[in-house]
Amino acid sequence: MTPSSNEKNLLIVAHVPSNNTRALRDAVVAGAGSPEIEGVKVVVCTPFEAGPEDVLAADAIILGTTENLGYMSGALKDFFDRIYYPCLEEKQGLPMAVYIRAGHDGTGTRRAIDTITTGLKWKAVQEPVICRGDWDPAFVEQCEKLGMAMAAGLEAGVF
Ligand SMILES: Cc1cc2nc3c(=O)[nH]c(=O)nc-3n(C[C@H](O)[C@H](O)[C@H](O)COP(=O)(O)O)c2cc1C
Repeated sequence: MTPSSNEKNLLIVAHVPSNNTRALRDAVVAGAGSPEIEGVKVVVCTPFEAGPEDVLAADAIILGTTENLGYMSGALKDFFDRIYYPCLEEKQGLPMAVYIRAGHDGTGTRRAIDTITTGLKWKAVQEPVICRGDWDPAFVEQCEKLGMAMAAGLEAGVF
C-alpha cells in the first residue's frame, strides 16, 4: 500500500506473556491488516514498548491484556501510568477497543480499563472481547474480527 496523507494509524498495544496470548494478538493484527482494508497503518507493540508518542500518533487504539489477580496485567497498567497525563488533553475521544484473556473471570480487568479510559475520555467503539475460561480456538476468530472491525471503521471514517 502506498502511504498517503489520509492514512490512519491503528495502534495495537498487547500484553503477550504466553503462546495463547500471542495467538490472540496475531489474530487482531491479521484482522486489522486484512488486504481489503486500505489506508490504515497498523502499529503493534507491547505495553512495555509503547509510550505517549505512540498514542499521540494514533487515530484508534486496541488494548489487549491478560487478567492477573483480578486486574489488568501490570504491564498494561504501567503503560497507562506513563501515557495518562501526556495524552490526557490531546487524545480525548480516541476510538478504542479491548480484548481480555482471562483464565476464569475478566470482570475486574474490564472494570479497571473502563475506569481509566473513562478518565482519559477515550471512546469505546466495540464491545470488549473477553476470552474467558479454558482455551477455545474460537477466541482467535473473535480477536481477528475485532481487529478487522476497528481497521474497517477507521477506513470508513465512522469513528
Ligand atoms: C499470577 C496469575 C494470576 C491470574 N489471575 C487471574 C484472575 O484473577 N482472573 C482470571 O480470569 N485469570 C487469571 N489468571 C489466568 C490468566 O488470565 C491466563 O493464564 C492468561 O490470560 C494467559 O492465558 P493462557 O493460559 O491461555 O495463555 C492468572 C494467571 C496468573 C499467572
